[in-house]
Amino acid sequence: MFISLIIPTYNESKNVPILIQRISETLSDVKKEVIIVDDNSPDKTWEIARELSSEYPWLRVIRRMNDRGLSSAVLAGFEISEGEILAVMDSDLQHDEKALINFIKAFENGAEIVVGSRKVKGGGIEDWSKGRMFISWVATILAKIALPKSISDPMSGFFALKRNVYVIHKNEINPKGFKILLEFLARAKNNKIEEVGYTFKSRIHGESKLSSKVILQYIHALYELSIGQFIPAQFIKYVFVGSTGLIFATISLFICQYFFHLSQSKSLAISIEFSILTNFFLNNYWTFKYNKLVGIKKILRGLITFHAICLGGALINQAIALKLITLDFTVYLANALGYFIAAIWNYIININITWKGKA
Ligand code: GDD
Ligand code: MN
Repeated sequence: MFISLIIPTYNESKNVPILIQRISETLSDVKKEVIIVDDNSPDKTWEIARELSSEYPWLRVIRRMNDRGLSSAVLAGFEISEGEILAVMDSDLQHDEKALINFIKAFENGAEIVVGSRKVKGGGIEDWSKGRMFISWVATILAKIALPKSISDPMSGFFALKRNVYVIHKNEINPKGFKILLEFLARAKNNKIEEVGYTFKSRIHGESKLSSKVILQYIHALYELSIGQFIPAQFIKYVFVGSTGLIFATISLFICQYFFHLSQSKSLAISIEFSILTNFFLNNYWTFKYNKLVGIKKILRGLITFHAICLGGALINQAIALKLITLDFTVYLANALGYFIAAIWNYIININITWKGKA
């Protein structure tokens, strides 16, 4: 079996020479290519890797000048790889290269995806802070809920695929962040998965690039891969913004009455208008930030359509609520159902009129 081992690197100049030496010993009898994908690291990891490649003919190095990111680096490596098996491993010596021998055995026994796991027999973690343990625990539970197939370590950055699994799914993979395995697992529902235990070692040189941004990207991806197929994340944001409307309406009602001593009907009118305006701007800059309206003209036009749609929504809300009340629903439930149906209507019209265009 010809194996392509992809190793993403960012500022790992001290680790790479040790890792390549270890791989050359462990995989001495294996037909292989090793592809280091470096994102133009300031510490010149790419240069050190290139020097090594004169000593190890199976070592290839890509230096990416304009892209950054672990998952996208892995995909770039996959794209130029030639092996029958595509494996991924961190460069910081935290993954145990000896486990690769068991990866190969698993493929020989019919596996199509092999995942290096800290949580099966033979697996473990050398030394982790309580905080890191907790993040990993939560992330794993979320992944188990979201994924069609349950595996013990879905966050693993140490895994391998048969080439055809990659080829079939490569165009659907979201290249943001760290969760490249998750992207494949969510799609490769019928492939045979095998887990191989290994001990995740502590980092000695360099530092981790796992940031809070990476964690947010992870949560977003889990959503998109599960419920997001049925309810777009944008709709959840829209409903959330809609519910903040009540808070803005209440605050402005209070201000109108107690500070400006306006009449009740005037105060109500102003507070409704105020909540429509805050809704519009929150939606424009958050919910629909990828196709937000910019410039006075577009914003004014958007405000007009948004108002008309809100009015339509309010009428639908009221009509449904009144109908449900005649069917013996309580007024609160009737109103809530009316509100929800109106929200769906509002949303659909808004994405087709106010914020139409590609997301
Ligand atoms: N090319 C490239 N570009 N490589 C990167 C980038 C990047 O932007 N960011 C990180 N890497 C490389 C690192 O140099 C390292 O070889 C590997 O990706 C993992 O990065 P770390 O920053 O060391 O990640 P970690 O140890 O915190 O996280 C590991 O464990 C997680 C599970 O807890 C990774 O294996 C994750 O994939 C895994 O989810
Ligand atoms: Mn690491």
